[in-house]
Amino acid sequence: MAIGPAVRALFGPYEREIAHLYRSIFIDLDDWIGRIGAWVPDAQNILEVGCGEGAMTERLCARYPQARITAIDVTPRVGRLFAGDASRVEFLQMTVEDMAARHPQAYDLIVLSDVIHHVPKALRGSILTAIHQALAPGGMFVFKDWARTSTPIHWMCHAGDRYLTGDQVSYLDEQEIRSFLGERFGAPQDECRVRPWRNNFALMLRKAS
Ligand SMILES: C[S@@+](CC[C@H](N)C(=O)[O-])C[C@H]1O[C@@H](n2cnc3c(N)ncnc32)[C@H](O)[C@@H]1O
Repeated sequence: MAIGPAVRALFGPYEREIAHLYRSIFIDLDDWIGRIGAWVPDAQNILEVGCGEGAMTERLCARYPQARITAIDVTPRVGRLFAGDASRVEFLQMTVEDMAARHPQAYDLIVLSDVIHHVPKALRGSILTAIHQALAPGGMFVFKDWARTSTPIHWMCHAGDRYLTGDQVSYLDEQEIRSFLGERFGAPQDECRVRPWRNNFALMLRKAS
């Protein structure tokens, strides 16, 4: 059972700050957006898949002031805590498969951040295929997930995900992430770790022109 939403409701007006503080135990989102910006200096039409309540969407919006951003998630809580420039961002509760069917080859940058470990294994390939379909030729795909290790911080992260979100999370290790992405996109253009843990494993991939 997910206790996250009930616990969060207790925080009232402090929910946004406390959610950020909790997340910062595991990932520095400002370091992450810095790395995305270094990989993809400019983008006009961005799709964020699995945007959740909008923490990364907010940073994408600030980093790419000329871009239009579409942020989608399957949760009804989509974009709930977003506090950026709403005039350039559209939040939608929908799947990336539907989005790709409606807007094939539409995006020059697609971001999938900390989503795959929440998705049942049987559905992961379909998400990747849809992302490939939604990318413009030559478009960039930026992927990040928490890579499985045998370390205390990994067990903490797993317990937090499992009991706060209630999802049946399952993590890939670094090598599994490379082969999962490689099947659809080929070799990555680059890889990096995002602070403060090596588990934060990110890759930049490019769709062939
Ligand atoms: C840990 S949150 C990450 C939110 C956001 N990407 C970020 O980094 O701040 C994981 C999100 O994945 C979403 N998710 C799970 N399955 C999904 C699917 N099949 N398609 C899109 N999003 C999904 C969940 O609803 C949740 O919002």
